[in-house]
Amino acid sequence: MAHVMKCSQCGATAVINMPQHRLKLCAEHLVPWVAKMVQKAIERYELFTPDERILVAVSGGKDSLALWDILEQLGYQTEGLHIHLGIDDEGYSDASLAKTAAFAQERGLLLHVVNVREIYGQSIVEVARGRRGGRTCAVCGLVKRHIMNEMAHEDGYDAIATGHNLDDEAAVLLMNTLHWERRFLSKQGPLLPSIHPRLARKVKPLVLLYERETAAYAIVRGIDYVMQECPYAVGASSIRAKGILNQLERHSPGTKVQFYLGFLRAREDGWLPSDRGLDGSVAACPRCGQPTTADGLCAFCRLWEGVR
Ligand code: AMP
Ligand code: FES
Ligand code: ZN
Ligand code: ZN
Repeated sequence: MAHVMKCSQCGATAVINMPQHRLKLCAEHLVPWVAKMVQKAIERYELFTPDERILVAVSGGKDSLALWDILEQLGYQTEGLHIHLGIDDEGYSDASLAKTAAFAQERGLLLHVVNVREIYGQSIVEVARGRRGGRTCAVCGLVKRHIMNEMAHEDGYDAIATGHNLDDEAAVLLMNTLHWERRFLSKQGPLLPSIHPRLARKVKPLVLLYERETAAYAIVRGIDYVMQECPYAVGASSIRAKGILNQLERHSPGTKVQFYLGFLRAREDGWLPSDRGLDGSVAACPRCGQPTTADGLCAFCRLWEGVR
């Protein structure tokens, strides 16, 4: 007879085993447990308060949709922002927008959509192609950051929330450590405070959750999300780092969470400098007004030079 995994709280059939917490949960008990972990992260890292307005960056993937769902359950004030990047391969961007819009509509949530091609004249794939050494992912990150900051500033949100989970954070930490990226190591974390009126606070409320936990949550809650990976992320070093960490985790449960939370604690204790400021002197970009350390146009405005 097959061994049936039982919920540690009620004895019903469990849908997930989380050995790092010595916990197995059924569908019914998983939902409040996940919400509790998010609330814990919000309080522990002082991410935001119930009277603040949060702009949730939603890609259409499991993590950011689960995040929006959880923040709504917890009673926070949220609105969504989806950025249509114009990635046509396998209809990636259209599918992402469709799932995000359907999610918002079903729940009566307010979603803002920014279409990069409609506003700036080219998709991120097209604009990256025209730039020397312009890797699509790097261009994509630059464009997303700029649009999120602009939207948060114009509509007066207190913080931008993204769906980064503990696996994402641990993988980036591993890469940053392998290369001793001091600048990133001094900043990486669940909270990036606002260091300029035009740059909103960035928060990651899912940092205490493993990816398989947010995935299980999304499935249990019936969230219809985009399963395909971005075609440009295939082969990215962060995906390899995730695989390696999962291999270690399989042998010693808790490796990922200890690695990441241990890092945050070490920095808090002063083992690493904590640097949240802008590097060097900053000026306002003459075109968009966002702060830049460049002489003249910011990197975002330079990207679109000659396109429009
Ligand atoms: P990624 O860099 O694709 O792993 O995404 C990290 C987080 O950025 C996601 O969890 C979302 O919160 C946000 N994000 C990614 N892509 C988009 C998008 N197209 N529109 C809005 N937010 C996004
Ligand atoms: Fe930006 Fe893939 S999501 S390049
Ligand atoms: Zn149960
Ligand atoms: Zn600019």
